[in-house]
Amino acid sequence: MIGVFDSGSGGLTILKALREALPNQDFLYYGDHANAPYGHRSNEQIVSLTKAGVSALMDAGCELVILACNTAAAVALRTLQQNWLESHYPGNRILGVLVPMVEAITGVPWQQERHTHLGQQGRILLLATQKTIASGAYSEEVAKRAPRLELIPKACPGLVDAIEGGAGPNPLSGLINGYISELDLNGVSAAVLGCTHFPLVEDRFRDALPDDVTIFSQPDVVARSLSDYLKRHPAFGAPGSGTLHLLTSGDPEAVNMVSRSFLDDRLNFEKPGHSHVSGSD
Ligand code: DGL
Repeated sequence: MIGVFDSGSGGLTILKALREALPNQDFLYYGDHANAPYGHRSNEQIVSLTKAGVSALMDAGCELVILACNTAAAVALRTLQQNWLESHYPGNRILGVLVPMVEAITGVPWQQERHTHLGQQGRILLLATQKTIASGAYSEEVAKRAPRLELIPKACPGLVDAIEGGAGPNPLSGLINGYISELDLNGVSAAVLGCTHFPLVEDRFRDALPDDVTIFSQPDVVARSLSDYLKRHPAFGAPGSGTLHLLTSGDPEAVNMVSRSFLDDRLNFEKPGHSHVSGSD
């Protein structure tokens, strides 16, 4: 069983693509809705909340967990991988969403940092939470692999709160138009939605951006990358029967209402510790 973690419902966009790419895998999702959003929390809080979420998934039997949250991946992943995982869950693995995105943006494999060639060039937008932007993780990793590519970072404060709070189409478009209107789009060819919540409102980003700006689809990129990883590490990809269970630290009823409105009306979140009787298989 593969675990998928996010601060809230955004990781469902990644989960959906993972299930399409890997229909025989069993998935367990944990949304930390009680503590969302993470985008304006301190690094210490994000590390500690991410450890708690990953622990919940690993204690339930997941040997591989995907951090389907750019904020957690940018701020906490390295700390967890270097200092925590091996002493708490030896042999288990945690992967993030940032590595495959950087590879997709730059056209350079992760292992080939430091200018073995010059990667992509041009100007692209990075739209993400305040914390992901402030971490500098995308900018640093892209610059190492594609120094001629200008990544234009834009924090989108309030958007995750609005999505999790079930805001309607007009307020969502108002926020998104506001972020985009502050940018110089001259020569921009693409935009990265660097927060897993943002594909839930991709249509609104599409409307706000010029037609010739393409949008990188993080769910598809991550799904391709995980399929590839499982081919190289088959021990983590033993086929199951395509089951799905969804856990939340928040109020399942409220979470179901918002998640269903965006994605799939069969989604059924439960509190951890409840029997896994989910209508979402
Ligand atoms: N989906 C998370 C991300 O990709 C949102 C983080 C938050 O809770 O602010 O960054």
